[in-house]
Amino acid sequence: MPGSHPILCGSIAGRPGPFGVAMHNAAYRALGIDYTYVAFAGEDTARVVDAVRCLGIRGLGVSMPHKIAIMDHLDHVDDVARAIGSVNTVVNDGGRLAGYNTDWIGAVRALAEETALAGHRAAVIGAGGTARAVTYGLLREGCQVTVYNRTAEAGRAMAEDLGAAFGGGLDALATLDPCEILVHATPAGFHAPGESIVPPSALEAGRVVFDVVPLPLETRLLREARDARCRTVPGVRMQIHQALHQFELYTGYKADFAVMEKALLDAMAAQPN
Ligand SMILES: NC(=O)c1ccc[n+]([C@@H]2O[C@H](COP(=O)([O-])OP(=O)(O)OC[C@H]3O[C@@H](n4cnc5c(N)ncnc54)[C@H](OP(=O)(O)O)[C@@H]3O)[C@@H](O)[C@H]2O)c1
Repeated sequence: MPGSHPILCGSIAGRPGPFGVAMHNAAYRALGIDYTYVAFAGEDTARVVDAVRCLGIRGLGVSMPHKIAIMDHLDHVDDVARAIGSVNTVVNDGGRLAGYNTDWIGAVRALAEETALAGHRAAVIGAGGTARAVTYGLLREGCQVTVYNRTAEAGRAMAEDLGAAFGGGLDALATLDPCEILVHATPAGFHAPGESIVPPSALEAGRVVFDVVPLPLETRLLREARDARCRTVPGVRMQIHQALHQFELYTGYKADFAVMEKALLDAMAAQPN
């Protein structure tokens, strides 16, 4: 039974969702540790950071619109988060706030469940925050990465910055360079089961197709990839792996993957698509 003063963790977002709450609290309960996790809503990054300091919040998951802005308000930003250009995790050590990025770890661990990464070729679609984290992670694991993006300048700039190649705009997906791994890392298809920006010709049998979009559980891209006999990796695997890493940073304990997975899937089942 938790005591009356649990250690407080949480998340901050412009539009908070229920998934972090479900996963982290389930994992605390399973371990019997006296923590609790709350989803906060707020738009003013400086005041959010003040609140973390003032209330002694131990760990904070950071979503839009705070992921970039929060970097200026922390005592320390990890080199990896700085290279990726955003923070999705804040750890409060006795009032010293440090920022990390766990999205790249989530992406790499989700993909590693399905394929080896070192020496493989990957195509990444997108040049936003998630695409940056995925590209960083794949390069770090020894993949050769080619970036494709709707807006060529943004795609080229991200690729050059991180040390990847640039393959072109969405038109170029129809004649994708040879690769073993294809990652879709834009919001296209999020809560939109009929939407995919990946042409069927990019879905070569045997290719590993990873859609970072977590909802619906099977996006149109994943459905078409499965039909084309690709090996598929859904966005929820990344979501669970990155939450597991956050959990370790906050508590020092390893969480049970199956506990977090069940909590996430139950919470998702309670959501409209
Ligand atoms: N599974 C997980 O754990 C996890 C974690 C984090 C995020 N996500 C998901 O990742 C997705 C991307 O998040 P984000 O924060 O990176 O978003 P973001 O910064 O808004 O993404 C912007 C990128 O997506 C491209 N884009 C947006 N809409 C597009 C469309 N309709 N067609 C083609 N390209 C489009 C943009 O292209 P332009 O440059 O041309 O504008 C840009 O490259 C979201 O669905 C989010 O839910 C998943």
